[in-house]
Amino acid sequence: MDSPRLAVIGLGYVGLPLVQEATRRGLRVTGFDVSNAVVDGLNGGHSHVDDISDESVAAMLATGFSASTSPAVLRDADVVVICVPTPLADDRGPDLEAVRAAAAAVRDHLVPGQLVVLESTTYPGTTEEVLIPILEESGLEVGRDINVAFSPERIDPGNDTYTLRNTPKVVGGFTPACTQRAEEFYSLVVDTVVVAKGLKEAELTKLLENTYRHVNIALVNELSQFCHLLGIDLWDAIRCAATKPFGFAPFTPGPGVGGHCIPIDPNYLSHRVRTHLGQPFRFVELAQEVNAAMPDYVARRAQDLLNDVSRSIRGSRVGLLGITYKANISDQRESPARDVATALIRLGADVSFHDPLVADWKLPSAEVRRVPTLAEAIAGSDLVILLQAHSEYLDPALAWDTTPVLDTRGVLRGSAVAHL
Ligand SMILES: NC(=O)c1ccc[n+]([C@@H]2O[C@H](COP(=O)([O-])OP(=O)(O)OC[C@H]3O[C@@H](n4cnc5c(N)ncnc54)[C@H](O)[C@@H]3O)[C@@H](O)[C@H]2O)c1
Repeated sequence: MDSPRLAVIGLGYVGLPLVQEATRRGLRVTGFDVSNAVVDGLNGGHSHVDDISDESVAAMLATGFSASTSPAVLRDADVVVICVPTPLADDRGPDLEAVRAAAAAVRDHLVPGQLVVLESTTYPGTTEEVLIPILEESGLEVGRDINVAFSPERIDPGNDTYTLRNTPKVVGGFTPACTQRAEEFYSLVVDTVVVAKGLKEAELTKLLENTYRHVNIALVNELSQFCHLLGIDLWDAIRCAATKPFGFAPFTPGPGVGGHCIPIDPNYLSHRVRTHLGQPFRFVELAQEVNAAMPDYVARRAQDLLNDVSRSIRGSRVGLLGITYKANISDQRESPARDVATALIRLGADVSFHDPLVADWKLPSAEVRRVPTLAEAIAGSDLVILLQAHSEYLDPALAWDTTPVLDTRGVLRGSAVAHL
C-alpha cells in the first residue's frame, strides 16, 4: 500500500518539523500556509525556522514537497494536520481565529476517508466544540465519513537530543476508530505513539505539561527573591537538590517566562476553568502573577547593583545580553526581555542590547540600540544584564570581572557577577 499523502496546515515552528520528519519517512507531503512570505521562502529553499536549515528544506523539496497558499491542495491528502497559532486574545483568553480559519479551509475541501488532526495547543474541548462542528458543515460526519483526532505538539526548539521523532507523540480521537487511525499515521512518523483515552485527555496533556513548568518556574522565581534577601545561594541549593535521583525535577529562576507556550498555554486552561466552572485556577493565576512580576524585579536588582557602585539608574548605560525567549534560538515571541527593557527605560536607563541572533529590536514604545559585539556591549555599559544564555556568552575565555553583571540565568562566574 502507498504511504499516506499528508497535508500540513501552518508551516511554522511546529508544522515545518512535521513536514521534515514525514518526508524523511517517505510520505508525500504538501503544505498550506496563508503567508506568501513563508510559502515563497520554502518553495525557494529558505527556512524561517531555527532548527531547520536551508539544506533540510532542499531535502524536503527533493521528495516532492511544495508549499501553497491555496487550500485546494488539501483535497489530495489522506491526512490533514493543523498546526496554526493559538495566541491570546486582547482579554488574555484563547484566540482561536486561526484554528477556525484552518477548519473552514479543511471543510471546503474535505474528502470522505480523510483523517484530520489538530496539533495546535488549546483548551480541552476545542476539537469537539470548535473543529468538528465546522468540519461537519460539509455534510460529512465525523466517525462515519471522516476521522478526527488531537495530537499535542511537544517540540522543543533548539533541543538536539529530543526531536519530533524520538519524543513520544500522544494521540486521542473522537471515536476509538479515529484514535486508531491517528495512531497508525503517527507511527509512520515518530518512534513512539501514546494513546490517550480521548480528545480532551490528549488536549489536556499538553496544558498539564506546560502548566507544570509554569508553576515550578514561578516557585523558584519567588524563592530567588527571598533567597537574595536571606543571603542564600538558591542556585547552589538547586544544584544540590538536583542530585536526588527521585522526586525532584530542577527548575531555575529567570527574568520571566517567554515563548509561544509557557506564558500562554496555562491561560487557555484557567480560562476554561473560569468560564465553565466559575472558579479561578489558583495555581495558574498565582504563577502568572509571580512570573509576570520578574521583569520589574530584574530592573530593581539592576537599580540596586548600580547603587552599589554609586550610580543612579537614571542616565546609566544598561546593556542587555540575549533578548530572545530561549538560549540559542532567534524566536522573540513573548520574550521577557521586552518587559525588562521597558521597566529599565521607565526608570530612566539608557538601554542597549546585544544578541548574535537578532538584527533589530523594537519595543512598542521605543527602539533599542543594537550593539554589534559583546566586547563593545560590556565596555560601553555601566551594567550588563544577561537575559539569555546564548552559547557565545558561555565562552570560558571571557572574564566577567570589570563591568558589573546581573546574571539572570546563573551561568556566569567572575568577580563582577551577581546572580538573580
Ligand atoms: N513553537 C513551539 O515551540 C511550539 C511547541 C509546541 C506547540 N506549539 C503550538 O503549535 C501551534 C503552532 O505554533 P508555531 O510555533 O508553529 O506557530 P508559527 O507562528 O511558527 O507558525 C504558524 C504558521 O501558521 C500559519 N497560519 C496562520 N493562520 C493560518 C491559517 N488559517 N491557515 C494556514 N496557515 C495559517 C502562519 O502563517 C504560520 O506560518 C500553536 O498552537 C502553538 O501553541 C508550538
